Amino acid sequence: MQQQGGNGRANNNNTNSTFAFVFDFRFVLLFLCLLIISEIFVNWRYGRYGWQWLTRRPEGTPVEAWRGLQDMVAAQGGSCENVTLRRFYHGGMGVEGLAYTSSFAAATTVLEIPRSLLLSEEDCKACPRHDAVQIDGPMRIAAALHEQEMLGDASNFALYLPTLPSLDWFRTNHPLFATDEDLEVYDKLPLARLVVLARESLRRSYKRLTRYAVDGQLARMGDDEWMWGSAICLSRCMGMDLNGTRRFVLAPYADKANTDPVPKLNAVWDYNPSSERLQFNTTRRVRKGEEVLISYEKTSSKTNADYAFYYGFVLRKNPHPLKDHMDRDTCHSILSKPASVLHATPIRQLFHTVTQEHCRPFATVTEMPTRGAPP
Ligand SMILES: *[C@@H]1O[C@H](CO)[C@@H](O)[C@H](O)[C@H]1NC(C)=O
Ligand SMILES: *[C@@H]1O[C@H](CO)[C@@H](O)[C@H](O)[C@H]1NC(C)=O
Ligand SMILES: *[C@@H]1O[C@H](CO)[C@@H](O)[C@H](O)[C@H]1NC(C)=O
Repeated sequence: MQQQGGNGRANNNNTNSTFAFVFDFRFVLLFLCLLIISEIFVNWRYGRYGWQWLTRRPEGTPVEAWRGLQDMVAAQGGSCENVTLRRFYHGGMGVEGLAYTSSFAAATTVLEIPRSLLLSEEDCKACPRHDAVQIDGPMRIAAALHEQEMLGDASNFALYLPTLPSLDWFRTNHPLFATDEDLEVYDKLPLARLVVLARESLRRSYKRLTRYAVDGQLARMGDDEWMWGSAICLSRCMGMDLNGTRRFVLAPYADKANTDPVPKLNAVWDYNPSSERLQFNTTRRVRKGEEVLISYEKTSSKTNADYAFYYGFVLRKNPHPLKDHMDRDTCHSILSKPASVLHATPIRQLFHTVTQEHCRPFATVTEMPTRGAPP
């Protein structure tokens, strides 16, 4: 290293460039700090109407909760060391997903969740057994979750529950929680109507459930709780054949995996009845750190209205475009509202994206925001 020694001041050029360096450095540092702070507290996005600031609860599974989940899977005879939790970016939004912990050849089994850790609608103890009492699958899952919560530490799923997104998260991001104002702004959007119908159906299920429940336990399950439990199931249940019939199933750990359109998928999953485990297998060679991407369309193909309804996001380049275009007047009646009204909340932004796809023949379609999956 060269020393300036007693040379005193460097010449003017040097002083200037040093000053310029210090100035730039501080500027860059400040910029980075702001970037980090904004990444932590808000999500912003550049859209058709300029920069939009989305205040969102930062999603994130606490590290201890995730470690607990890993121990739980191992303790019950599963294996999960080949994939772990990481943050990924989908369409500019940070979401949690699963990453491969090393490189694997095609057709490698990378994740195994034992039957004892799969929470199915059959696990709802209080649910009436006879088929005459119709109760929606997601409501049965909500009830099963409630029962597990009541068990406290004795629950097999005690370490899974803290890894699930909160009611607040759903209130901000999931269409099932659209407010009356949100629904009014998008009143002619089929998705908004579907949300209303789904809520009515769930409420009827809830009434039947509390009326015919096998024991009195479910009386303590309030509106917040069944809404939360149903949203958990809508957004993360996997359709699985556990015992001869396809059922809604919650699969701890596995439910963190995100999706994308087909060419990007790199893993398949199914319940293996002979080993009694849910398995994830790679479909091609994968690199360490690469995101595990599975299909969310095992049971049926999904349009972006379906993705929005179940998961609260849409897929960019969804190979199943919406076919039911809305007429020009309907499109105009929605899209002519002020941007501040159309975009007021993340749920409205989601509705806006779906509206644009219904109105593709009439509207200038902008880039659609995409998200991976809920946390
Ligand atoms: C994880 O990968 C290793 C090879 O790297 C393999 O021996 C092990 O069986 C894998 N475990 C599971 C479930 O995937
Ligand atoms: C699976 O089905 C059999 C008979 O069809 C039944 O006895 C058993 O309880 C079922 N198991 C579960 C976990 O539902
Ligand atoms: C995953 O691989 C295992 C072992 O090769 C196989 O038994 C299972 O059927 C595969 N599952 C899927 C969904 O491909």
